[in-house]
Formats: sequence, C-alpha cells, structure tokens
Amino acid sequence: MTNPFKYGDVVTGENFCNREQEKKNLKQAIKSGQNTLLFSERRMGKTSLIKQVMEEISSGSVSSVYIDLWPTDDRVTFARALGQGVANHLTAPLEKTLRTLKAWFQSFRVVSSVTQEGEVSFSFDFQGNPEQLKLAEILEIPQKLADKTGQPVVVIFDEIQEISGYDTDYVEKKLRSVIQHHNEVTYIFLGSRRHIIHEMFMDRSSPFYHSSQKLPLSTIETKAWIPFIRQRFSSGGREISEEMIETICEMTDGHPKYTQHFCEALWGQTEQDTQISENDINIARDKVLMEDSYAYTVIVENLTNNQRRLLVGLAVEGKNVSIWSKEFMNKYRLSGQSSVQKAINSLQKKDLVDKDQDGYIILDRFFKLWLAREYAV
Ligand SMILES: Nc1ncnc2c1ncn2[C@@H]1O[C@H](COP(=O)(O)OP(=O)(O)O)[C@@H](O)[C@H]1O
Ligand SMILES: [Mg+2]
Repeated sequence: MTNPFKYGDVVTGENFCNREQEKKNLKQAIKSGQNTLLFSERRMGKTSLIKQVMEEISSGSVSSVYIDLWPTDDRVTFARALGQGVANHLTAPLEKTLRTLKAWFQSFRVVSSVTQEGEVSFSFDFQGNPEQLKLAEILEIPQKLADKTGQPVVVIFDEIQEISGYDTDYVEKKLRSVIQHHNEVTYIFLGSRRHIIHEMFMDRSSPFYHSSQKLPLSTIETKAWIPFIRQRFSSGGREISEEMIETICEMTDGHPKYTQHFCEALWGQTEQDTQISENDINIARDKVLMEDSYAYTVIVENLTNNQRRLLVGLAVEGKNVSIWSKEFMNKYRLSGQSSVQKAINSLQKKDLVDKDQDGYIILDRFFKLWLAREYAV
C-alpha cells in the first residue's frame, strides 16, 4: 500500500482533513458574493482549502477561475497567469476556446498546443514594451465569462502578496478599481507573508482595505487530526494510539504540512501489522530533522549571536514565553530589550519568525525542533 500521507502538493478529497467551519465560511462568502481574503502562514492549507471548496460546490451553479500569481513579477506575467486561469476553465472544443481567448486577449498572441497524450495547453505571447499593455480590458474578462455562461464567477488569486513586489503599483491599482464593480464576480484572495498582507489589506489606507472580508486560517486542532491520522494508519494495518497522535501534534503544532510530513515519515519506517511505539516516533523525528539539517546549519551560520540566542530561546521555550522578560534575557544571554527588539525584527524580515496573538512562532516547525535539539541548554 502506498503511503497515505501527502505533503507538498495540494490535497483534497480523502487526503483533506476537517476545516468544516472554514469551508462553511467560504461557501457563504461565495454564495453572497462577498470578496474575501484568506490568509495564513505558508503551507497552512489555503490552496487545498479553496480547491476543496470549489470541488464541493462546482456542481453546476458557479464557475471558478483559479490564478496562481506565484510565478508572476509584472503586468505581463500577471495577465498571462490570468489567461491560463481562464483557459483552464473553458471547456468548449479547442477551436472555439481558442477563438474566445484570441478575442479576449487581443494584446497577446494566443497559441494552442496538444501533447502526444492529447492534453491541450495555451500560451500567451506578448511582444513589445510591457508598459504598453493595458490591463483594463483584461480585467473585464471574468465579468465577460459570467455574461457568457450566465453563471456567477469566482476568481481566485492565489499568492496575492506577489503583486506588491512588482516594480510599479499599476496592477494593484487596476485590480482594486475593477473588483468593486463586478457584480457577478466574487474575488477570493489567498495570501501568506503576514507583513505584506497587512500592508495590502489591513490598514485603513491600504489598497484593498475596503474590498474584502478577512478570514485567517490557522492550524488544525488535535481533536480533528486524531480520527484522520488514526484511520490512515489503520487502513494500512498500523495501530496508533491517541496519545501518540497527541505527541505528534504537539511537535508539529498541528500545522498541516508538518503534521502530514511527520506522519509520512512515520508510516515509511514502520511495518504492516504493528503498533506504533514511542521509539518509532523518535526515529521518524530524527529522520525529518535530518532531511533539512544542512539548510538549517546554513541559516544559523548567517545569524548574529543575538539572533541565534533569541531563536534558540523561542525554540526551547515555545511561543508562550515572554521574550521581553528579565528571566528570558538572562537565560539566553541577551543584553537588553533593544537588542531583543533588533533581533526579533531581523528574524521576522528573514521570514524565520512570525507573530500571532499568542506570541512569536518559528515558522518552520521542524527547524524549531532541530534548534531545540541542537542547542539544548
Ligand atoms: N485540510 C488539510 N488536511 C490535511 N492536510 C492538509 C490540509 N491542508 C493542507 N494540508 C497539508 O499542507 C500542505 C500544504 O497545503 P497548501 O494547501 O499547499 O498550503 P498553502 O496554500 O497555505 O501554502 C499540503 O501538501 C498537505 O500536506
Ligand atoms: Mg498555496
């Protein structure tokens, strides 16, 4: 039997655990046409969640266009990503789809190709100066799609924080101005990297402040993981106790990617018809910490002493610790609040640490375990 735990790619269907409330919230947003920002740390499950939701509601009543902005860095690549999203959605025969795309993307040379396996793909070629590309027309396409199909359209912009890294704010401005006016189109933005999302959506003066409701996505609770993990192990003839699952969730914080990753390793090194033991868990732990240990070493080498001390303190003490307390500073040899401030700012800039309502967290949960192990005091 193949390993039933999956990490890396989007998961849906039987590989998807819980998120009942979040699914409800998103379905409600789509139903009422409420533009929404779904945001979280990386790999918390945003893409999987929206794909799962779209699978569940796709039975005929709405169309969805999924646009991945990760590989984009200017208005041309943005428009191209939008083109791909629209093309993936169109299901008419090839000739007809090509005609529609050519009519809608007039600034591009749209070419279709068919692989030997019969898979169709489209490319969007833009010649000329990117500055000349006008997005107004292109951003009307979702509305055109709604008119054409007579169905409401959901447009999903994944990795929305990328547009804030473009050289100019042209795309951001254009996008903001159209989303208000499209009645038949609901926009769902998915974003990670808290400080950028904050600048784009949360301040009163930020471009999308008024445009969307904000849904944070957090970790998955242990009580939801327990039946999911237990069932997956037992379907392959492995028994795991509730306590063991609690131990795993404590290590991974219930973060979906790290929890799946850990279980994948644990499954991989146990045999069928066995009871998972504490020793198995320790071996799996060593294995996952080994995988990236070289990268972790490089990261640590590039930290200042204060940054490293603070990071180790966070790893050992957990996120509820007060990094500003005398006790913490003494224990981790930090000279004062101003050096803690400086160090925490740098760690956040490097995307190693983030802040949530409870305190500071080390984003890579395995890095956290690795630090605590390597630098145990
Ligand atoms: N609901 C879920 N149930 C089980 N595993 C999940 C779930 N959501 C995410 N994951 C795990 O986390 C990984 C990252 O999910 P992904 O949707 O790509 O996150 P994001 O889009 O937030 O970066 C997946 O590959 C999977 O291992
Ligand atoms: Mg994603």
